[in-house]
Order: sequence, then C-alpha cells, then structure tokens
Amino acid sequence: MTILDIIEKKRDKKELSKKEIEFFINGYTNGEITDYQASALVMAIFINGMTDEETVNLTLSMAHSGEILDLSKLNEIIVDKHSTGGVGDKVSLILLPLVASLGVPVAKMSGRGLGFTGGTVDKLEAIPGYKTDIDINNFVQNVEKIGISMISQTLNLAPADKKLYGLRDTIACVESIPLIASSIMSKKIASGADKIVLDVTVGSGAFMKDIKSAKKLSEEMIKIGKLAGRETVCVITNMEEPLGHNIGNSLEVKEAIEALNGRIAEDVKEVVLELGSYMVVLAKKAEDFDTAKKLLLENLQNGKAFEKFKELVKTQGGDISYIENAENFEEAKYIEPIYSEKSGYVYNIDAKEIGKLACSLGAGRIRKDDKIDKSVGIVLLKKVGDIVSKDEVIAYLHINKPGQLEKAKEEVKQIIKIRNEKQEKLKTIIKVIK
Ligand code: URA
Repeated sequence: MTILDIIEKKRDKKELSKKEIEFFINGYTNGEITDYQASALVMAIFINGMTDEETVNLTLSMAHSGEILDLSKLNEIIVDKHSTGGVGDKVSLILLPLVASLGVPVAKMSGRGLGFTGGTVDKLEAIPGYKTDIDINNFVQNVEKIGISMISQTLNLAPADKKLYGLRDTIACVESIPLIASSIMSKKIASGADKIVLDVTVGSGAFMKDIKSAKKLSEEMIKIGKLAGRETVCVITNMEEPLGHNIGNSLEVKEAIEALNGRIAEDVKEVVLELGSYMVVLAKKAEDFDTAKKLLLENLQNGKAFEKFKELVKTQGGDISYIENAENFEEAKYIEPIYSEKSGYVYNIDAKEIGKLACSLGAGRIRKDDKIDKSVGIVLLKKVGDIVSKDEVIAYLHINKPGQLEKAKEEVKQIIKIRNEKQEKLKTIIKVIK
C-alpha cells in the first residue's frame, strides 16, 4: 500500500478501507507522508466526502494517533464540551467555570482561531501569564485540585488532528462534515470524555451554513459517539450574527468577566444555560434539565462561577488582578465610535463579515504563524431586532493601526444593516439532537 494508491482511490470516489485510513493517519503523524500528499487526500475527501464507516474509522484512527487520557482516577463522569466554531463565541470561558462550580469536572483541550472564527486558547492567552501549554500531569492535577483545567492541544492527544486541523485551514478545507466530525470527536475521545455536549453552530459565521448540514454533522457525531461508547448531545445554535457583543481576544475575555458577574447578553446566556444544563445532567449533578438550569443560574448570579474562573486563571499562572479589574487589560490605541446614518431596526449583522474584519485588524491569523493582536476587535452595541436612531453609536472599533480606521469604519457601517420595517430577534437555540 502507498499513499499514492490511497489518494488515487479517494480521487476516483472509492471507499477507503480501515487499513488505508490507518496507514494515512500513522504516516502523516510520524512525518512519512508529506503535507502536499496529505493536502491532496484531504482535498479529495473534501470534494468526494466519506461514508459513515470511513468517517468512524478516520475518527478512531486520529483518536489513537497519540495517547488516550485516562481520567478514571477522578472517579467522576467526565463530560466534555466543544463548539464547531463561531464569531464572538466566548461560551467556554463562561460555561466551563460555571459547570465546574457545580462539581462537574472540566478537563478541556481547546483550539486556536480557525479561519474567520475565534479560538478559546487565543482568548485565554490574552490573560497575562495564563499558560495553555502545561504538561499532562499538571493538567490532570489541576482538575483533581480545583475541578477545572483549560489548555491548548499541546499534549500528545490526537496529534493527527492537530496536524490536519492546521493543514485544512491553509488549503480551504475546513467546511467538510467528515473532516469536522472526525476532528472534534477524535479530540474528545482522546481527552478521556465519557459524555460529550456539542455546540453545533449554523449560519453565516459558522462552518455549517444551513440547518440541514448542521443536522447532518450532528447526526454524524452522535453516530461516532455511539460507536465509541460516548453519549453525545448536539445543540444547534444560531451563528447568523456574532454571539454577544464583543469580538476580539481581550474584548471577549472582558465580556466573559462581565457575564460571570451576572451581566450577560441574552443570546450568550441562552447558549450557556442550554449546553450547561445538558452537561450537569449527564454528569449526574442534577436530576433533570430544569433543576440543572436553576442551579446554573444561581451560580452565575451568586459569584461562585466567577470565583471558579479566578481559581482557574490563578492555577494556570494567570494574573488575576486582570480578572478582578478588567480595566487593567491593555486597550487598543484607537477606540472609535461608529454612528448610525439612519433610524430603523437592525435586520442583519453578518457574523462571517465581522469575523473577517476582526481578523484583518489582527484579532485572528491570516497565515498559520501570524501573531495575534490581543487588544483589537469590534464591540457591537446593537443586535438584530434592536431599534436604532440616526447618529446613535452602534459599535466601537478597537484598532492599533490608524491606517485601517477609515476602511474598517465603512465596513462596519455596511455590515450592520438597518431598515424601517420591524425585525424580530433571532432565535438562539435552533434544535437539540440526542
Ligand atoms: N473545531 C474543531 O475542533 N475541528 C474542526 O474541524 C472545526 C471546528
């Protein structure tokens, strides 16, 4: 068997066997298969798809490309969470300390920004001192000691996914159901999850653009979960407009701090409570969904979730003076208000366009090794359905390069669409699939 045979087979729309998939994953992980060969195969998969059996084999092979974390010594049900990605998605920063404050152990390996979407690791690294690359012993110790650890994909867990994820981002092969399903589920299986709750985003700012694709991706991941013995719940959420108000790394951490102090945007709250309730019930920390939701709301309001977040930041080396006083975060040099040119109702704020703009300001990477500018981004004061008056401030741009200002201002005005007709708010939770 050679990689050429495998590429040729997928190029010609034939089904790959378990052995062929394992040959590819092992060879790519250990460097025997080159990036250009892997690119050709990934593109063929992107175009021709995979059968359910191929997707399951790809997932399991990726999950076993490194170590499988054994968290059995915690003697708890490990429930993990993952999102398929979005714009302004700071859910993990709020949800995970919140469920940890109710005794759900959180051992979370997060990703960096991918394409126009942000990544939790980039956001955590906006907190001065916070270490996302601790070793496996410290990771497990932190979960044992304080009930939560959040790190990057630095451990030897699903290394094949790490390589493939980076590669896909550079060859326009992210938006593929078998590739996303295998990427997410391989990481969850490798990081020792017993149960999995997935936020499957849909809309302009997500990789799945319509509900039909989001359902198909959800069903694929649930199927993989069943075969791997990990109960999986998928919550399909709206990513037509950005989630919450802030887009950009420090800006999103600041919004998360506000949220953990009880001041939380309605859409963020809905996603946090929906995912959180499933996590709490699956971890057997509440009998039913409604009790779980009530407990979550209590800990969001009474400061316990915020205390857990501070404990997490401190334990991972972060400076909690920033968390206690968010004004300490370094701000961008220019903070420019954007004024509405007319009165009416906001009817569209295209999440992908906002994500691309934030990326171009420096909040995300255009090339794989680009450095992120933590302080830049966009603050949206309005959501779809809100009323706007002419000359009212509708957003702020946080910018470090003055040369970008005029163009960015124009772009924000174009993206926030206003018209006379009344507009309903967007539905946040679209569907739950179990
Ligand atoms: N998140 C992942 O972990 N993998 C993907 O492929 C997309 C989103």
